[in-house]
Amino acid sequence: MIIDIVTLFPNMFEGFIKESIIKRAIEKGNVEINLVNPRDFTLDKHRHVDDTPYGGGSGMVLTCQPMFDCLRSIPSPKRVILMTPQGKPFKQEEAVRLSKEEHIVLVCGHYEGFDERIRTLCDEEISIGDYVLTGGEIPAMAISDSIIRLLDGVITTESHLYDSHSNGLLEHPQYTKPAVYEGMSVPEVLLNGNHKLINEWRNKEALRTTYKKRPDLLVNYKFSPQEAKWLEEIKLEEKKEEVFE
Ligand code: ADE
Repeated sequence: MIIDIVTLFPNMFEGFIKESIIKRAIEKGNVEINLVNPRDFTLDKHRHVDDTPYGGGSGMVLTCQPMFDCLRSIPSPKRVILMTPQGKPFKQEEAVRLSKEEHIVLVCGHYEGFDERIRTLCDEEISIGDYVLTGGEIPAMAISDSIIRLLDGVITTESHLYDSHSNGLLEHPQYTKPAVYEGMSVPEVLLNGNHKLINEWRNKEALRTTYKKRPDLLVNYKFSPQEAKWLEEIKLEEKKEEVFE
């Protein structure tokens, strides 16, 4: 997959592409990341990318010409996505959808805003949450990261089968050695090697975690008969736990 990131601040991506799983994915050829700077497409001596807003007001606005020329320099076919707090809220299902594309372009706004006509260059707009950042660079990193880890060969498929949000539930709890730490024990079922029981425990605990931390996710969740039964058990167990506390 190719991810082109259109940014006035390519240095912000140094750590992102040079560390850990993303670095390895690039080295292995799972993904190619190109940083493209609209400033390289300016036509004036001072390489201006912004100007004062028509109608007055504070702040500067990104101008059309560098952005249009920059985006047109990137070969097609490509899916162009604008990072903006006005965009569609980013969810795991969007990460899955975009991970199937061959070539995406993430466009980062910066400063106070961009000329509205830049929107005509984009196929869709994405927001990473209802808050405003200084630019689209952190959203572009968050979105690329969530996509890249889903690409074949980046991490084992097993690792994202149980990801929080991948099936509508949060992930079950995880433990590693030692079996007892400061008096806190790992659940017995995980130590006995019975994979059927372990899977059942994981599925039920994923449901419990979601019920306790994000009950809103269960409103539209399609429960299997087994899960519906577990949920009733969990409600009783959690009530008992409350009384006990
Ligand atoms: N640019 C500034 N804030 C943003 C947000 N919340 N999501 C995407 N892009 C942004």
